[in-house]
Amino acid sequence: MSGAGRPAGTDPTALAALVRRPAVRAFDPGREVPEALVARLIEVARWTGSARNRQPWRFVQVRDRAAIRRLSALGAYARFVAGAPAVLAIASADDGFADTEFDVGRVTQSIVLAAAAAGLGCCPATIFPEPNVETARAILGLADGWCPRHILALGYPAPVRPTGAPGALPAVPRGRLPLDELLR
Ligand SMILES: Cc1cc2nc3c(=O)[nH]c(=O)nc-3n(C[C@H](O)[C@H](O)[C@H](O)COP(=O)(O)O)c2cc1C
Repeated sequence: MSGAGRPAGTDPTALAALVRRPAVRAFDPGREVPEALVARLIEVARWTGSARNRQPWRFVQVRDRAAIRRLSALGAYARFVAGAPAVLAIASADDGFADTEFDVGRVTQSIVLAAAAAGLGCCPATIFPEPNVETARAILGLADGWCPRHILALGYPAPVRPTGAPGALPAVPRGRLPLDELLR
């Protein structure tokens, strides 16, 4: 039992520190992210549930600097990705199911939480417009039917955070809507 008399592990706020980690767009250039660590994140996240257990997701980890630079040019707000030691492309099945993007968002959040638990920082970037998704698919060597609409920059956070990292969204508000606006 925990201090408050509850069975251990039942306090959902224990997850808050991981969920509240802000997006990280600037990375420590001196710290590599081992390929095996990224594989461990996927090992955790692949157990995420999906509609009818379709698992409509595939992942490509990208290390080649030229490929990372090319990917970072495929979204208007993706420039910061060029400075990430590791990039994980997240592809969704082009299967027409209404649940697919929900499922892919869900597995991505599992990856983000696993990354936070490992001390990594990350930030998704959107690949758009649609022809850029096709270009990304070719760069990543994905088969037809897999759409890489998002890439995740991964790395250990920069020791000193620059204000206004390159490519950061300037007009995006900080913080979150209050609980009473979200839940009734
Ligand atoms: C689906 C999705 C797409 C995103 N695309 C971008 C992007 O293209 N560029 C970017 O800098 N941040 C992107 N972000 C990060 C959001 O801007 C960020 O999560 C949000 O502003 C909250 O930031 P905070 O956690 O630091 O408060 C994306 C986030 C999500 C969930």
